[in-house]
Amino acid sequence: MTEAIAAAPADPPTAAVVDLAAISANVATLRRRTTAALMAVVKADAYGHGLVPAARAALGGGAPRLATAFVDEALALRAAGVDVPILALILRSGESRLGAAIAADVEVSVGGPAALDAVLAAVRTSGVAAAIHLEVDTGLSRGGARADGWAAIVDSAARAVAEGAVRVVGVWSHLACADQPEHPANAMQLAAYRDALDTARRHGVVPQIRHLANSGGLLALPDTHFDAVRAGIAVYGLAPGPAVPAAGLTPAMTLVSRLALTKEVPAGAGVSYGLTHRTASATRLAVIPVGYGDGVPRQASNRAEVCIDGVRHPIVGRVCMDQFVVDTGDHVVDTGDPVVLFGPGRAGEPTADDWAGATGTIGYEIVTRIGARVPRVYHGGGTG
Ligand SMILES: Cc1ncc(COP(=O)(O)O)c(C=O)c1O
Repeated sequence: MTEAIAAAPADPPTAAVVDLAAISANVATLRRRTTAALMAVVKADAYGHGLVPAARAALGGGAPRLATAFVDEALALRAAGVDVPILALILRSGESRLGAAIAADVEVSVGGPAALDAVLAAVRTSGVAAAIHLEVDTGLSRGGARADGWAAIVDSAARAVAEGAVRVVGVWSHLACADQPEHPANAMQLAAYRDALDTARRHGVVPQIRHLANSGGLLALPDTHFDAVRAGIAVYGLAPGPAVPAAGLTPAMTLVSRLALTKEVPAGAGVSYGLTHRTASATRLAVIPVGYGDGVPRQASNRAEVCIDGVRHPIVGRVCMDQFVVDTGDHVVDTGDPVVLFGPGRAGEPTADDWAGATGTIGYEIVTRIGARVPRVYHGGGTG
């Protein structure tokens, strides 16, 4: 029996068991790969692992900084008593809690004039100077100022610094292809980022920390490390992509359930909606009470595998909203037996990266989409 199964309660039968010690150990391992500070990315409920417990575990592993997507997430960390520097990477328009975030010393990203205006308005209201990270778009064409607008935003920020309204803590950008280390865009973005830093310096803005790398950059592109690296997926023990393996890291989430029903069926039995699978011979089927309503991808239908008592069995037929069926062949299993959908892979079970490969997505999506109906159960670390 794996540690995760031992940690999972029998009721409810399904749980995402999160190994907090693995998160801490992953951070410690990643820190040994760089001299840059590790900014643990805990957006989207820490990639589904649970915002506050995962953040604490990352800090326990030695991460000096955190990053969230939105200010709400950062404020939730502050409300839980987390007092390290936190950067909210995305400033949404009409963010009503921006002033509260600035007052709570949440660092906010500024990628254009509208964002700077919003920050300055919040500063005027709250009377507290804001800590900002200027974002430059070096080729992803997502957030940040493009090269042609960069000098202007730097100038505006420099004026705001002179007025005492803001501090420029960081200048950052984001890589489009760090999961493909050989991709030519990496060198182009690195050069564009260096140009942006030069421009900022010429316009009087020298940030405390420069940050460009995500997990892929951290693991495979040492030139991108600068002063800090924003590591997300690797903190949770998963790979940025097939070309950048998560060697030495431990997947932190194990998705466990218990068989709701088992039955023997004859050859030719159709299984689940659409009868997309028919049994080739007489066999045993087991019903697992987890479905796409819990974030199990419907694309796993007839593709992914689960593990029961150390043995892998294929999903047969379509994944339904609340359940799916596996064929256990001549493996005699019983109602209530534990089943591992994915985990660290140490006891024969698939990993989230295996599920990603089987379903044509990325490990990020597999863990992050596990839904609210699945309780998170923590073991191996602090109390969260
Ligand atoms: C701006 C930014 N930085 C860092 C990360 C972390 O990336 P990864 O999980 O690949 O380490 C993300 C994640 O999507 C991001 O959007």
